[in-house]
Amino acid sequence: MLQVARAPGRVNLIGDHTDYTGGLVLPMAINRHTTIVFERSKDVSAISSNFAGEVRFGLPVIDAQAVQPAWGRYIAGVAAAMSERHMALRGFTCTITTDVPIGGGLSSSAALEVAAALAFGIDTGIDTGIDTDVATIAAVCRRAEHLATNVPCGIMDQLTSLSGVKDHALLIDCHSLDVTPIRIPESLAVWVVEISSRTLDGSEYPTRVAQCAVAEREIGPLRLADVQSANRIVDPIVRARARHVVTENERVRQFAAALAAGDLRTAGQLMVESHASLRDDFATSTTQMDAAVEHYSQMPGVYGVRMTGGGFGGCIVVLADAEVDDGAAINAATNGMRVHAADGASLTTPLS
Ligand code: GLA
Repeated sequence: MLQVARAPGRVNLIGDHTDYTGGLVLPMAINRHTTIVFERSKDVSAISSNFAGEVRFGLPVIDAQAVQPAWGRYIAGVAAAMSERHMALRGFTCTITTDVPIGGGLSSSAALEVAAALAFGIDTGIDTGIDTDVATIAAVCRRAEHLATNVPCGIMDQLTSLSGVKDHALLIDCHSLDVTPIRIPESLAVWVVEISSRTLDGSEYPTRVAQCAVAEREIGPLRLADVQSANRIVDPIVRARARHVVTENERVRQFAAALAAGDLRTAGQLMVESHASLRDDFATSTTQMDAAVEHYSQMPGVYGVRMTGGGFGGCIVVLADAEVDDGAAINAATNGMRVHAADGASLTTPLS
């Protein structure tokens, strides 16, 4: 029997580099998906329409990073992460397709991990008959990313891919894992512009995670800290990193309120401030991304622009008035694409 596991990518409207200290983020799942069409089998074998080679491995997985070709490590990482939690695993033979740009900062890897978790049977509880809750599935998929790549990512991407709500952005508290959908006004268009393709593997992402941990040893959890205590940190680099996180959490709070109230000018202004903080205090932007942010923020009808996701390349996100026809300019000038907020991952059995 054929089954289909489908998981969306995401774009983060505001709240970057806050998730791994239990802070606030405000992403949305997007209408770009990774789809795994599979049939049950003992082991795993996968081909992808986007990557060369066939991935084959037996279960359980001992070392996800030994899997070749490398794109299969995300799938193997999910199997290894499920085994760590003693979850039962079922193998599959599958074909994978995706229209999430790879390495573009739109969480193509999280979409693959989430779809793979559903294909392994995580949602049904298999032996126990107990449904696994979304936060646990997200935690397993986050761990899969760590096992596959050594990038110590937070939980935002995987939780967003699982919890997406059509036409809504998600305010996520990465400490409690509470997800609050906020309707996106119809008059608002969300654009994503790919600046450069990259992976966080080998980037300074782990250094940023470590710098936040140093800050927390000095002043306690950043999610509870205020800017005055961040500013008292002795080391100037750690101080700047902490200041970004503390001020970004506050911007997410204000953005959520502004979006819910339809105050798009304030929301846009907060995005601009978020970009400046990621550029100056967190040092995750690039000169190319800064130039693009500057360029798009001057277009008529644009409320706000910022880098989005892990940074060091990837995408910028543009919030614009859907009525003003600048979309054509955003689209034509670059790799721009308009995205719409989509529902989260699903597992279906097509009638055939
Ligand atoms: C990447 C990680 C996320 C998050 C963002 C930055 O997308 O996977 O967990 O840390 O970077 O906000």
